[in-house]
Amino acid sequence: MQLLISNIRQLVTVRSGGKPFKAGREMRDIGVLENASVLIENGVITWIGNASDFMNTLQPDADTLDGSSYVALPGFVDAHTHALFGGSRENEFALRSEGKTYQDIAAQGGGILSTVNATRAATKRELKKATSKRLDAMMKHGTTTVEIKSGYGLSEESEIKMLEAITELADEHLISIRSTFLGAHALPPEFKDRRAEYIDLLCNRMMPYVAKRRLAQFCDVFCEVGYFSVEESRKILEQARTHGLALKLHADEFNSIGGTTLAAQLQVASVDHLEHISEDSIAGLRRGKTVAVLLPGVSFFLRNPYAPARKLIDAGVPVAIASDFNPGSCMSFSMPLMMTIACTQMSVTPEEAITASTLNGAAAMGVSDQVGSIEVGKRADIVLYDIPHYRYLAYHFGTNLAAKIIKNGTILEFP
Ligand code: NIG
Ligand code: FE
Repeated sequence: MQLLISNIRQLVTVRSGGKPFKAGREMRDIGVLENASVLIENGVITWIGNASDFMNTLQPDADTLDGSSYVALPGFVDAHTHALFGGSRENEFALRSEGKTYQDIAAQGGGILSTVNATRAATKRELKKATSKRLDAMMKHGTTTVEIKSGYGLSEESEIKMLEAITELADEHLISIRSTFLGAHALPPEFKDRRAEYIDLLCNRMMPYVAKRRLAQFCDVFCEVGYFSVEESRKILEQARTHGLALKLHADEFNSIGGTTLAAQLQVASVDHLEHISEDSIAGLRRGKTVAVLLPGVSFFLRNPYAPARKLIDAGVPVAIASDFNPGSCMSFSMPLMMTIACTQMSVTPEEAITASTLNGAAAMGVSDQVGSIEVGKRADIVLYDIPHYRYLAYHFGTNLAAKIIKNGTILEFP
């Protein structure tokens, strides 16, 4: 089946010519084409150029879409979310408006552990139903690939329930999903004085099971004061690697304790947050292939410092932007909103923000050979926006400008 999107006003390709990500000045090169057309066959992009060039090869039953009033971008690749969860935490949102911090609330038994209680109490079916609705909404806002973490179960049974739900959604939902085992998100209350035992349970029971059943592609740890230390994180990630899982790390969110140095040593696929990254750690990341995943929505929502995006990009570190969508630290999955915050608060240019939310997000998820740019051979995940210029997308914030979502070459219809 063929679909021709013809004469697109502005086609933002983010082409990388086979490179897994862009870094440094290259992040500004988003490969914009004017009045270009894209041919899609069986869900894959097979031609980009002038419509007149391939009109002859077009099959009689091909679908066509007039792109002349649209700006087209690759579907967003949101490389860091906790989109599967029970309950909600608007009470904590209210407490923060009165001056309480995220850490104060966590110390009083709220935070991650409050969502753990709600997630443990929910059935797999309930979690899937709620998450499926969220994924529909994410797609409507232009996200076509998403990473989802476990980490609100923190028991063998509930972590597996979460990962099974994510894996089933990956089969059943149109959005593309990669799943991450985050059993080391917090110490469960029942292991309060038995840290080593919980880490043993994670490494020697849960992880082999998760890997054997292929319930996750990545393993992640929340390396932070009050959560998991650098040495504990190292132990967990090294063990995960022996089970064939790729690695991620939450580091430097509230304190700089050496997580990013560990990430660089282990050459993890991505190190995420970095609000408090040190100068030395920036230098350490520059030398490797680890993607720095920045989460502007978290700093905005928690009134925390922003990660030094400008310094990271200027140092040549590949930077991605993700939502971190979760009920505690960022209750938004809008990638255009994350781009707006990155541009206004972190001195990221609109072009860099686009690269960070598409190609580099895909690199952080290990899928940039398939998605993240509009190039021949890649999957046709393309979003058309009803806007005059690509820069308008982050500029006109707080509204959804996506007009047509094309996933795997199919134009989606939303009720
Ligand atoms: O990425 N930092 C750790 N985990 C999440 C927050 C999860 C929560 O508060 O529920 C984050 O910010
Ligand atoms: Fe997170």
